Amino acid sequence: MHPGAYKTRLLLDLTRLLLLPSLALTTLLRLSDIHLGWILTLPCHLFFIVAWAFCKGQITRLVHARARYQLGAKEIPCVVGKWPGNIDVLLRMMKTFGTSYILDVYLKLFEEYQCTTLNTRILWSDNIITMDQEHSKFIMATGFNNFWRGNSQKERMEKFLGQGIFNRDDEMWRMHRSNTRPFFARERISDFECFEKYSSRTLSIITDAQSVSDIPVPVDAQDLYSRFTIDAASDFLFGKNLDTLSGSLPTPGKTTMSPKGSASTTEDSWGSFAHAFEMAQQVVTSRGRLGYFWPLFELFKDKNQKNGKVIHDWLDPLVEGALSEKARMKIAGVDRPIGEKNFLQHLTESTDDPVIIRDQLLSLLLASRDTTACLLTYVTYFMAIHPEVAEKLRAEVLEHCGPEHPPTYEQIRNLKYMRAVINETLRIFPPVPLNVRECRHSCTLPPSDPTYHQPSVSPPPSPSSSSSHHHHHHHHHHHHRQDSDPRPMYVPSGTPLMFFPLLIQRNKALWGADADKFDPERWIDRGRVARFVENPMMFMPFSVGPRICVGQNYAYNEASYFLVRLLQQYDSFTLAPEAQPSGSLPPDEWKYKKGRQAEEKLWPGAALTLYVKGGLWVRFHKASS
Ligand code: HEM
Ligand SMILES: *[C@@H]1O[C@H](CO)[C@@H](O)[C@H](O)[C@H]1NC(C)=O
Repeated sequence: MHPGAYKTRLLLDLTRLLLLPSLALTTLLRLSDIHLGWILTLPCHLFFIVAWAFCKGQITRLVHARARYQLGAKEIPCVVGKWPGNIDVLLRMMKTFGTSYILDVYLKLFEEYQCTTLNTRILWSDNIITMDQEHSKFIMATGFNNFWRGNSQKERMEKFLGQGIFNRDDEMWRMHRSNTRPFFARERISDFECFEKYSSRTLSIITDAQSVSDIPVPVDAQDLYSRFTIDAASDFLFGKNLDTLSGSLPTPGKTTMSPKGSASTTEDSWGSFAHAFEMAQQVVTSRGRLGYFWPLFELFKDKNQKNGKVIHDWLDPLVEGALSEKARMKIAGVDRPIGEKNFLQHLTESTDDPVIIRDQLLSLLLASRDTTACLLTYVTYFMAIHPEVAEKLRAEVLEHCGPEHPPTYEQIRNLKYMRAVINETLRIFPPVPLNVRECRHSCTLPPSDPTYHQPSVSPPPSPSSSSSHHHHHHHHHHHHRQDSDPRPMYVPSGTPLMFFPLLIQRNKALWGADADKFDPERWIDRGRVARFVENPMMFMPFSVGPRICVGQNYAYNEASYFLVRLLQQYDSFTLAPEAQPSGSLPPDEWKYKKGRQAEEKLWPGAALTLYVKGGLWVRFHKASS
C-alpha cells in the first residue's frame, strides 16, 4: 500500500481488528440459531473481539516460537510492566519525555533490565530497542538485507520527505544513491570557494554583534549556523543562494521558543519555510512516539499537510526552472559538461518527474542543514564551557593556517586537534542520535562480543533510592542479564527496531569510566585510540553499511573550514543564559541527577536530528592578537 494512504491502512487494520470478529460472531450465532438479548449483544461482541485478538496473538507467538526454536535462537528480553500491554511503562515514558535528559527514558530501561537489547512490547506489539554496538552494526551493515525503513516509518514521513533518499528502500533508494554519490567526489567538496563566501557572511553577522557596545551582544549560534549551512548547501546543490543569512535574526531576549530553536518575531518568507521545515520534523517525531495508531489522531487533518505545502511551494519553482532550462538547452543542442552542472541540473538528467527531483532536493537540504549546523553548535558550546579547548584549537589553527588567509584543503587535513574536537563532539552529541529500521525477514541478531557484555550499562540505582516501581528488580536480574547464554536473538519480521548511536557512544563499557566527559585527547592518546581502532562500532555518527552518510567528508570540510575562519578572529565564547527564550534552560532538577545531565548547560532535544532547545545563545569575543 502507498505510504501516503495512512487512513486506508488504519481502516483496514480496524476492520481486521473489530469488524472481522464481530461478523464472525454474528454468523456463528445465526448458524446456531442463538438470539442474544439487546443487553448481551454489545458485551458479547466486545468479549469476542478481545478473545479473537488474544487467540491471534497466541498463534503468532507459537509460530514465532517455532521459528525461533528452529534457528536455535533465544527471545529478546522483554519489559515486564505491571499493567496489561505494558501500559504503565508507556505512561511512564510519555510522562518523562518532556522533561528528561536526552534518550534517558531508554537508558533507564536498559539499566533497569541490565541489558543492551530489549523488547518494550508496548500494547502487545513487539518493539525492539537496542544500544548494543554489535546489534546496531548488524541492522545497518552486516544484516542489511534483513531490514528496511519499512512502511510505518514511510507513512510518518511521506508528506514531508516523500520519495527522497531518506524515505525509500530498494530500487528508488538505489537510484537516488547512485545519482547522488558522484556529487560528493573529492574535487567537488574540496572546492572551498563556496564555504568562504558563506563563512565570511556568517562572520560579518557575528562581527556586527560586537560593535554595539563593549560587551558583545549574544547571538543564537544554532540559528546562525543553520542559515550558514543551508545557504552553502543551496549554492552547492542548486547553484542558488537562498540568502537566509540576510533575513532578520532573532533578537536576544525577545524571542519565543520555536519548534526547535528560538523564533524570531518577524515572519519573512524564509521564516515560514524554516518554521514549516522544523514543524514537519517535530510532527514526524511525535508520530513515532504515538506508534502504530498515530493516524487515529490525524483522521481529519494530516498535521504535515500545511507544512508540506509551504515547503513545496518554495522548492517547486526551482525545480520547474531547472526542468525548463534543460528543455531549452536540449532544443538549442547545448550540453553542459558534468563538472559544471549543479546537483539539481544533474538530477534533471535522470528523470523528468518534478516530484522525485523536489523530494530528493529536500532530503539533501535536510541532510546538510541540520546535521552540520548541529555539529557546529555543539562545538561552540564545548568551546564555551571548556575555554582551554578553544585556546588549544586556536593555537593549532594559527600555527597551520595563519591569522588571516583562507585555509587550503591540505592545511585543513593537517589539523589533528580540530579533527579530535569534531570527533569528540560527534561522539557526545551525534546529530542523528537515534534511528529506526523495520525487520523485513525474521532473522537473528548475532550474539555480541562477550568482552563488552559486563557491565554493558552502568548498574541501576540502588532500590532504596528509587521509587516503588522497582520492586520486581530481582526477577529481571536473574532472568534477563545477557550473560552466559551464547545463542543469537530472534527478531520476528515486521518488528520495528530503534537503535541509539548516542547511547553507544557514551557507553562506559566501551569508552571507560570517563565516557561522559568531553575530552578531545582521547582521539590523540595512543592507548585510547587503539581501543577505538579495535572496535570501530563504538563510534558511528555517520552510520555504517550501504546507507552510510554520503556527505561525511563534505561535513568535516565545511565544519573545519568555518571553525578555522572563526578562530582566526575570535578566541573565546561565553554562554548567555539570560538570552535564552523562557523554558529553554535545563530544569533545576537536573542538577541532582548523575553524569552529564547534572552539568549540562543546555537542553539537548531530538527530532529527526539533534538540536538545542531554544537555540544556543552565545557571545563571541574578538581576539586581541
Ligand atoms: C555532521 C554532519 C552529518 C552527520 C552526522 C550525518 C549523519 C548521517 C547519518 C547517521 C545517516 C544515515 C541515516 C539513515 O540511514 O537513516 C546519513 C545519511 C545521509 N547523509 Fe549525512 N550526515 C551529515 C552531513 C551530511 C551532509 C552535509 C550531507 C550532504 C550534503 C549528507 C547527506 C546524506 C545523505 C544523502 C544520506 C542518505 C544516505 C542513504 O540513505 O543512502 N549528510 N547521514
Ligand atoms: C575521527 O573519526 C573517524 C571515524 O569516523 C576516524 O577515521 C578518524 O581517525 C578520527 N579522527 C581522529 C583525529 O581521531
